[in-house]
Amino acid sequence: MGRGDPLNTPDQGIDLSSTTVSETLGSRLSIPGITVVMSIASTGRRRLLRALAVLGAGTAVTGFTPGARKPAAPDLCATPGAFDTPLHVPGGDGRMGRLAADGRPVVLRAAPYGRDGALAFAARADGRDYVDPTLVVGAGKRVEIRLENRLGEPTVAHWHGLTMDTANDGNGEALVEPGNSFDYAFAVRNRAGLYWYHPHPHGATAAQTCRGLFGLIAVEDDDELTLRAALSLVPGETEIPLVLHDRRANPPHRYSPSAEELLLGWYGDEVLVNFTPRPYLEVTGRPYRFRVLNAGNARNFRLAFRRDDGAPVPFLLLGTDGGLLERAQPCTEVFLSPAERIDVLVDFAGIAVGGYVLLESRAFDPMHALPARPAEPGGAPAGETHDMRIPAGPVGASPHVADGAPLQLLQFRIRARATAVPPPPARLSAAAAPLPATDERPLRLGFAKGRWRINDRVYDMTAVPIVVARNAIETWLIRNYHTSMPHAMHLHGFQFRVLERETSPDPLASLVVDNRGRIATDLGWKDTVLVWPGESVKIAIDFRHPFAGEQTYLFHCHNLEHEDGGMMLRVKVG
Ligand code: C2O
Ligand code: CU
Ligand code: CU
Repeated sequence: MGRGDPLNTPDQGIDLSSTTVSETLGSRLSIPGITVVMSIASTGRRRLLRALAVLGAGTAVTGFTPGARKPAAPDLCATPGAFDTPLHVPGGDGRMGRLAADGRPVVLRAAPYGRDGALAFAARADGRDYVDPTLVVGAGKRVEIRLENRLGEPTVAHWHGLTMDTANDGNGEALVEPGNSFDYAFAVRNRAGLYWYHPHPHGATAAQTCRGLFGLIAVEDDDELTLRAALSLVPGETEIPLVLHDRRANPPHRYSPSAEELLLGWYGDEVLVNFTPRPYLEVTGRPYRFRVLNAGNARNFRLAFRRDDGAPVPFLLLGTDGGLLERAQPCTEVFLSPAERIDVLVDFAGIAVGGYVLLESRAFDPMHALPARPAEPGGAPAGETHDMRIPAGPVGASPHVADGAPLQLLQFRIRARATAVPPPPARLSAAAAPLPATDERPLRLGFAKGRWRINDRVYDMTAVPIVVARNAIETWLIRNYHTSMPHAMHLHGFQFRVLERETSPDPLASLVVDNRGRIATDLGWKDTVLVWPGESVKIAIDFRHPFAGEQTYLFHCHNLEHEDGGMMLRVKVG
């Protein structure tokens, strides 16, 4: 590539090594393993106290102790102000409404939404209005979408998880200027699954996404229809998408991250479910299918269901990012990192009428373990150096719920009995052909010179650090340093398989399901995989594609602050 020191690659990102940042970042950042705490602005104190009351624990927002386990909480369902808004359940129009998007052109207009700074994609079809519509498309069908930009800044839409040629991928290397439009036309080459679309203008992806500019893509095929028939699932009734999304209520929809937030990620002071704060949903005593997307900028969730007496409610994992698993996996909790999706079945049949179930994110050590001193032995792969300079200064001042803090997300109220539904079919979809083992391409995730990096590099729109031969099947070995953070690594254009996890940290220990260190969510097709500090994750990618000529994709962290900061590499596929 003719470049000298790869650490000095020119780039367009936000440079955290600038003096301002060094002067403003907190010394508290430098303690490995600690969660960075918030400072409480006096104006935010009452709101925070209320939030703490709802969260029911002093561990919630400040001073979370790694490893501390929250005891079974009292019945927080009774807390005044909590769970008093019905969950927004998408229907045939309106917000997240299901819009049949194959067989006719669709116009998505990116525009301000309401008066408080929110953004949304608006659409109109058959005389109905949609906001951030759920695009429903059949596998194999053709789609034509016109993106109209009515924002005051450039944008572009990316179809996260879909197999796509570069021209339609919306990777941010060509932008749609304000007032302009762009026509996408592509065939849906993916199997059934829940995918999503969101903006991808480099440097502004986080800002636009956190203001609400994103929607779901539901691809349907025969496996999908078979499952729905077997379980008598009806979208909008017993099959419901749950989109988790961080928000700061005060002031709403303003994105002005501090230097610390650019480093660790932007976290809200509440988490919305389908754009609703702490909602409830009335259910009957039968299985419900929930298709969950983490649309937050940076937060990882440790999702679990429990009854109001604290007893866990086990559930079945039906699918992952790229659709249904071969077989349902019994689970009690699942980690969900930014951009990941899970498809779960929760049976309320065993819960008494009048009872409650909570969807919560349980407390965990978020492992924001930035380097403070030379890495401990084993902290870096042999023979590699790791830059230990870390910004220092006070922590940011915005109230937020820290990553790893417990969160009560959604309350289910069991309202009536229901007729029994059989268990799901033993086989949900055909087994995937195993991908052959190949030479490993190493990818190291680390922090140096004030920035998160992949193989010591940051994003450069003119460089191609990863070149894949046409028709290749590759094994990627993604290793994260011990002194790091969890990184949600995402590849555009291809679904992949997780082959193996090694040296996984404590939060994963109880979740391992096989002798290759994998967890339940590793058993399906993935486009995003969370790699914890100190962990190695091996994935297999089949790069065969039907597109004429070379294609260029992106491999990046889906912590949107890390992505916008340049933790992203281009991948050329011949
Ligand atoms: Cu969901 Cu490159 O992104
Ligand atoms: Cu993507
Ligand atoms: Cu990251």
